[in-house]
Amino acid sequence: MTRVSVLTTDPAGAKADAIVVATVPAPSAGRSGEHRRRAAAAVLAAGAETVDAALGGQLTQALTDLGATGRRGELHRVTTLGATTAPVVLAVGLGPDGATPRRVRAAAAVATRALKGARTAVFALPADTPELVAAQAEGAITGGYDFVEFRGRSREGRKTAVGRVQVAIADGGDRNARAALRRAVARGTAIADALTFARDLVNAPPRDLPPTALADRACSAAEAVGVSTQVLDEHALADGGYGGLAGVGQGSTRPPRLVALRWNPPAASAHVALVGKGITFDSGGLSLKPPTSMETMKDDMAGAAAVAATVVAAARLQLPVAITGWLCCAENMPSGAAIRPGDVLTMYSGTRVEVLNTDAEGRLVLADGLHRAGEDAPDAIVDIATLTGAASVALGSKIAGLMANDDAFRDRVRDAADIAGEDVWPMPLPADLRERLDSAVADIANVPPSGGRDAGMLTAGLFLSEFVPDGIPWAHLDIAGPAWNSGETSGDTTKGGTGFGVRTLLALVESYCD
Ligand code: BES
Ligand code: MN
Ligand code: ZN
Repeated sequence: MTRVSVLTTDPAGAKADAIVVATVPAPSAGRSGEHRRRAAAAVLAAGAETVDAALGGQLTQALTDLGATGRRGELHRVTTLGATTAPVVLAVGLGPDGATPRRVRAAAAVATRALKGARTAVFALPADTPELVAAQAEGAITGGYDFVEFRGRSREGRKTAVGRVQVAIADGGDRNARAALRRAVARGTAIADALTFARDLVNAPPRDLPPTALADRACSAAEAVGVSTQVLDEHALADGGYGGLAGVGQGSTRPPRLVALRWNPPAASAHVALVGKGITFDSGGLSLKPPTSMETMKDDMAGAAAVAATVVAAARLQLPVAITGWLCCAENMPSGAAIRPGDVLTMYSGTRVEVLNTDAEGRLVLADGLHRAGEDAPDAIVDIATLTGAASVALGSKIAGLMANDDAFRDRVRDAADIAGEDVWPMPLPADLRERLDSAVADIANVPPSGGRDAGMLTAGLFLSEFVPDGIPWAHLDIAGPAWNSGETSGDTTKGGTGFGVRTLLALVESYCD
């Protein structure tokens, strides 16, 4: 994994395999036909000044000659012919938004990948604020992410990420400013490590990650940073009345687990509970999925992975907020021991649920996790889950659905996502849809009876809301789309598991720091 540090000397004089600068599209000079006919051009973004000066002020011209436009993710290499210590300048486009943390993070990731195999690189990218410095560190590390565990002998697997990235700071400032910059690098690194952890868990083949292994890996990472852990095994779940977790888990030979990760700093200003769906494989159970729908169902524990990674990152950053992370881990399999459509489960809350579709299992394990989380009376509860295909139908594969029992809290989560540079979109929980979950035999059904498939994201959210104690602000993130990238790597979003949600949850927790 790439190591990131701060460089306070001139990047033009730094020993490195490459210097990375950023470009943005040149502001269009007007709307006249003459200007529109002129080819689009790029200009250098902040951070590149001394590099450009070392090249006699010719860097913009050189990039223009190469056809640079400053488009997002665009890459151009310019040889420096000895004018800088590094042999090449790599220019990466930020796109029209310019130097926002999110775009700088993506540009850093693109540059890291372009420099795969290099030992060292200097980033002469926009670094005017600690947020931008953190974004560079984060992108430098996450952009090089690759899940190589099962293809170590391939050629691509051998080329390793950039060994070291130095983030150049034009003016290191006084001692306080330098300390803030180092903290920014530490923060970006902690977030990147958390994303790596979450991605590794999501990408792990389901055979290698049964609920017990998910629990073990989460607990060892947590304990390493001073987080206390507690695991309820299948016997404790049955004895404790966790009918949702026990019920979903009973079809698998590999038993379910409920994990609590507790970060409890002294004098915490607030307590936030995070609840993650941890279905290590979702076959659908007896309501079996068709084969193609199962191809990515090892990602059905992405919510739990995001929660575990967030708690670990918060502890590493010593955030003064208490967090309890709840991982609801089970494998959803069909077998002679599996729950059947028509079965009634008594949940941890005491609510009896008629299971009409065993493929709507996420809400069953989360119901137990949410109710248990509520018993501690936290200031807020957020659950995160690859809950419904309907969420990706509605919002596509990049945007999470956000539902809540409280408008102000929903806005708070939305703001956290904006700050974190993740896309979430508010969705309603229409009370009049609740009657679709009425059951003839139990308190509630886990899905509307056959036919009512529309508004699937919302009925799932309504189901969950029943298990949240009154008076606690609660939000639900449906990450069925963005948890997994089945397309090509782009920006800082790599293939497979994305780690979506870690940044939003961490930003939300940080919103309680002051
Ligand atoms: N894990 C799936 C949801 C999912 C689908 C996540 C596609 C990622 C991509 C969930 O357990 C599920 O199967 N949901 C059902 C609900 C239905 C039975 C009401 C679905 O979306 O079809
Ligand atoms: Mn399912
Ligand atoms: Zn599922």
